[in-house]
Amino acid sequence: MCGIIGYIGTRPATPILIGGLKRLEYRGYDSAGLALLDKNGLTTFKAVGKVARLVDKLRGDLSPEKHESYTVGIAHTRWATHGAPTEINAHPHFDKSRKICVVHNGIIENYRSIREKLQKLGHKFDSDTDTEALSRLIGVHYKGDLRLAVVQALQQVEGAYGIAVLSADEPNKIVVARKGSPLVIGMGDGECLVASDASALVSHTQRVIYLDDGDIGVITPDSVDIRNQDDEPITRGISELDLDAGAVEKGGFEHFMLKEIFEQPESVRNALRGRIDLSEGNSVLAGMQMSPKELAEIHRTILVGCGTSLHAGMVGEYAFEDVAGISSEVQQAAEFRYRNPIVDHHDMVIAISQSGETADTLAAIRKAKEKGTMVLGLVNVVGSAIARETGRGVFIHAGPEISVASTKAFTGQVAVLLLMALKLGRSRRLSQEHGVDLAQEINQLPELIDFVLKQNDAIAKVAERMAKSDHAFFIGRGPMHPVALEGALKLKEISYVHAEGYHAAELKHGPIALLTPGTPVIVLANQTSVLDKVWSNAEECKARGAHIIAVVTEGHAKTDLTDDIIVLPKCGPLVATIPAAVALQLLAYHVARIRGCSIDQPRNLAKSVTVE
Ligand code: F6R
Repeated sequence: MCGIIGYIGTRPATPILIGGLKRLEYRGYDSAGLALLDKNGLTTFKAVGKVARLVDKLRGDLSPEKHESYTVGIAHTRWATHGAPTEINAHPHFDKSRKICVVHNGIIENYRSIREKLQKLGHKFDSDTDTEALSRLIGVHYKGDLRLAVVQALQQVEGAYGIAVLSADEPNKIVVARKGSPLVIGMGDGECLVASDASALVSHTQRVIYLDDGDIGVITPDSVDIRNQDDEPITRGISELDLDAGAVEKGGFEHFMLKEIFEQPESVRNALRGRIDLSEGNSVLAGMQMSPKELAEIHRTILVGCGTSLHAGMVGEYAFEDVAGISSEVQQAAEFRYRNPIVDHHDMVIAISQSGETADTLAAIRKAKEKGTMVLGLVNVVGSAIARETGRGVFIHAGPEISVASTKAFTGQVAVLLLMALKLGRSRRLSQEHGVDLAQEINQLPELIDFVLKQNDAIAKVAERMAKSDHAFFIGRGPMHPVALEGALKLKEISYVHAEGYHAAELKHGPIALLTPGTPVIVLANQTSVLDKVWSNAEECKARGAHIIAVVTEGHAKTDLTDDIIVLPKCGPLVATIPAAVALQLLAYHVARIRGCSIDQPRNLAKSVTVE
């Protein structure tokens, strides 16, 4: 949440900062701001709303020559936590002297007590933010050494932060610090950058250093000095980014979401690459770092995550039970962290996260570790906090997901969970023959997804018929139940249509009271073992005048019952969750497009939820 970018070098800083903010806008877009530094001191610009508003302001206020002259700056795009999205609350925030400024991602939990103490010392706060408590505290400690002032201020701070700090008295450095919110330093030729996300650096450098919690660094055009909280120098390795600039651009698509939906044959192929052993009917997941004996000894798996990642976990639960015969459960990460989970060393916790930064999932991992349980990560972003905290697991290799609504991460997560189920299954009851069948099906996934993508135009027409309705229901059974939940989540977050996902059998236990003539009910009707039951549930809705949109396996449509049909390719029920999810992503996308919504940046949302 919130995006940070900083630059120090010899090139004009403004376009680099603005370019970075645009890349980071998906992390928060309530307001944006930047501070530029030269020998005359700090100059700031802030605007409410998207980065484009800030650009307009800069254009009006700074001459081109002036833009050229600034070679140092920090910038921020905000997702409001403390204080409304106003210009005053936008970052950067200043100290009392207005010579030091800070951009911050995270939450300063004890900001009220810091604020009260500083008010007693005569500080008059400009904003309602927690960040201003920190910027003023740094100013209080400043005696000519910015790094030291930041160290001392952070010793008094509780909470999470990724920060970049400038001082007008020390124009040759940016001080950065991280605890709980990501920060990555990019190293160029005679220049250095810092960002909350590597995607903002990729056009400038591929050489990066990921900061760890507790790190405090000083960057200059040609040096990086990182120290721990006790002020001891530490070495952090330089990583090469496995990203190219094209991966974070729209590539001709109208929205990132559509691009990411269409990338799924490739992103799932990447998730599967080198991991399927077709002849053995097994999977190769070296990152799990487990011997067959260790795999066989697991009593139970617990899948934790939030939102879309939680839904992927729910599909995993069915796969682990069905394929591997292993007891499995799913827990919302925020719940897991605060209850007293009954887990022991025979259990395996799998933490699922696209961003690898979700605060609740990170806390759930720490809780599981405290209890002595083995924890694996199922993560997209390499170098993220969850990837590092778990230390082992499987990357889904979906590439950067820019649209706030998660799409290719979901299908990558489910694909890898199927591979894990295969591996666990082969370590216990799953025969080689059945393993080979499943492995072959999983291997077909890119083509199965393509089958659905080819119906894009037809799905757009279905969306036209449902776009006028302000309510929708998604129903499914077995592994299609979490897909129904995911379909409803996608629709509500990007189109603001009130959508509910239900187990198909649950509808008549209450929610059916909400059905009125014409309400769209999306029926996931491909589950062969309970297909008749699902159709009965659809009949119940039809009898109340619902508009039935059936997502059915090729050749299994019930034309008398359905108003619209989306066809899935022939495959088993677990594998079918992926093409079905893709169909519902397209449906949500087109409804949102027709309703004129801000698809990539829906209101009130941000991409990675680094606060509780
Ligand atoms: C929905 C969505 C969110 C995330 C959730 C967890 O489209 O993106 O529900 O899935 O915030 O995020 P990660 O997977 O990054 O832990």
